[in-house]
Parts: sequence; C-alpha cells; structure tokens
Amino acid sequence: MAAREEGNDYQRLTKKDCSTLCSHVVSHRRLEAMDDNIQSVHIISDTLKRKILEREKQTDMNTGISDKGSNMGFTAAVENSDEETVEIDTPLSRDQTKETGSKIIEVETENDKDLRNYDEACDRVKDFYREQHEKQTVAYNLMARVTFKTKVRARLTIWDALIKLNELIDESDPDTEMSQIDHSLQTAEAIRRNGKPRWMQLTGLIHDLGKLLYFFDAQGQWDVVGDTFPVGCRFDHRIIYPNTFEANPDSDHPVYSTEFGIYSKGCGLDNVMLSWGHDEYMYHIAKRQSKLPLEALAMIRYHSFYPWHKEGAYYDLMNENDKKMLKAVQEFNPYDLYSKMDELCDVEKLAPYYKELIDEYFPSKVIDF
Ligand SMILES: [Fe+2]
Ligand SMILES: [Fe+2]
Repeated sequence: MAAREEGNDYQRLTKKDCSTLCSHVVSHRRLEAMDDNIQSVHIISDTLKRKILEREKQTDMNTGISDKGSNMGFTAAVENSDEETVEIDTPLSRDQTKETGSKIIEVETENDKDLRNYDEACDRVKDFYREQHEKQTVAYNLMARVTFKTKVRARLTIWDALIKLNELIDESDPDTEMSQIDHSLQTAEAIRRNGKPRWMQLTGLIHDLGKLLYFFDAQGQWDVVGDTFPVGCRFDHRIIYPNTFEANPDSDHPVYSTEFGIYSKGCGLDNVMLSWGHDEYMYHIAKRQSKLPLEALAMIRYHSFYPWHKEGAYYDLMNENDKKMLKAVQEFNPYDLYSKMDELCDVEKLAPYYKELIDEYFPSKVIDF
C-alpha cells in the first residue's frame, strides 16, 4: 500500500498491491450488489407508498371527494398484476417530459418480481445495517475525517477515476450487467434529457464516485454505502432498522443520545457530522476542488440521507439554507433511483461531452482523491 500512501495512482501499484486489489475487486462486486439491494428497498418502499396513496385517492374519488393531489409531477407508471397504475411524482412535469423527449420511467412489479428480490435482499440488507449501525460512532467518524484530511490516496482526472472504478469491477465479472460508469452515465443522461443544467448533469455523473473509497481506507461495506444519518445526536426512529442502533455505544452516551446531542436546534446541516461513506467523501473532494454550486454539493453529500430527504427526520437541525438544499436533493433523488432501469449508455460516444463538462467544473483537471 506504500504507493497509495505516497499519493500515487494505480499505475504505480506493486504486484502485492495488485493482488490486494484483486481481492478488493471481488469484494467490490459484493459492495455493488449490496448498494443495489439497498436502493431496491427504497424503490419498493416508494412503490408501496404510492400504491397506498393512489388507493386513498381512488377511494376519495369514489366517494365524491375532489382530487386535490393532481398530477403536478413527472409520472412513473407502476403496474401490478391487477393492472392498477400508480403515479410517482417527481420534480419533472409531464409537459416537460414530452418537450425534452424524455421517456417515462417504468417501475414494473408484475408477477411480484421485485417483491421477491426484496425478500431475498432483506436479510443481507438487515445484516448490513446491523453492522453499519453498530460501528458508525462519533469516534469512528472523527477518525475517518482525520484520515481523509491527512493524506492523498490517488491523483486522477475525474474521467479516469470513473474508468478505473469501472475497470476494476469489470475484471471481477466480465458479464456484469451494471457497472459503476453505467449508473453514473445513466443518471447524468436522465438529467440531461430532462433539460436540467450542466452542473446537475455533472453531479449525476460523479455522485457515486466516492465509492473509490472502498479501495483506500474503508473498513468494509458499512463505511462506504448505505443510508446515512447524523452521529453525535439521538438516532431517529425514521432511519431504516432503527432497533439495530442498540448495539451502537453512542446510543447510551450521555450527550450523543440526547435529541440534539453535540448540535443545537437550527445549527444547519453543514455543522452536523453525517455517517462516513461515499457521499461524504465525494462531497469533500468536490467542495475543495470544483466550481460546482451549493445545490450540487448538497446532492452529492445528502443523496443517501434518506431519513432526511425522504422521511422528514432531523428537520430541527436545518437552517434556512438547508431548506433550499432539501429541495435540490429531492429533485435529484429520482434520477439516482430510477435511471438504473434505462438502457445502457455508449461510453465512448458520450466521453467527449462529459470530459468537456468535467473540465468546466474541475479546472485543475487532476484531482486529489
Ligand atoms: Fe450513492
Ligand atoms: Fe447512485
């Protein structure tokens, strides 16, 4: 690992490093599978919530109550075996979708296919969160930040970093259907198709690039992927599997276990320490080395902060600026969650466009990771 400690990139890795990386590659496949499982939980959860809402709307209509909900947003058609359709509102309007030629994203649950996947994923996801919720402590998070700030792990362009991450995954399984660059480009392309600004397209491209962390300082999957949450104050019951925090030593801490803990009401999320992972890691890299706007940085930093942007937890910690950021993160989320169902992108064809976009916002070109 000496090469990495000296801040060199993969090209200078020794044979020993390469063999270590090979084992990391296999583990990384598991990491990606885990991340997919976690995302599928959110998709299923979304789907079920929308179904319940739709049923309530239908009941209201049947009983003569006007439908106040209205189709304000972009619609994802969700069909079940009874051919019911449930609309998923996203920040995009239906008209906008037509204008930009974007397709409607479909989440199909016929034959309960996705529900079966959810069942299969459930134990793995539960085990993952049991470990994550036990180990994401204030002490660990302070250490992770000190480690992050005191060394450079690699120096790469953003594009090369995406390719490297992609190559490593491909080596482990040439038949893999979805690699990191596929998801990155699909997210970026979905944003672009809907006529969103260039900075947001780039945000889609790099939002998961922090998974490079797995090859550097990570102790497992639990400090790279998964939903994030604040440490240093009481763990909210709206975090997934809240009971698993019982094993976290901070749960009994006299300060960390209180409502605001080491923070104060309205202190602003900038002052809150979120559990360490790919979101937080990439946020710090982008904040230091890019010209991306605050909304982009928030999308990167909070895209896995589901207890906040999806469940409405921790609002008391927000300041006025965070309210704007919340809207931005909520606008970004559907692109991250649902673009995986899009067709795969042609990497070679898209490379010139995205390389130019990267250079626009990362002027130093070679980035310290
Ligand atoms: Fe992510
Ligand atoms: Fe993602």
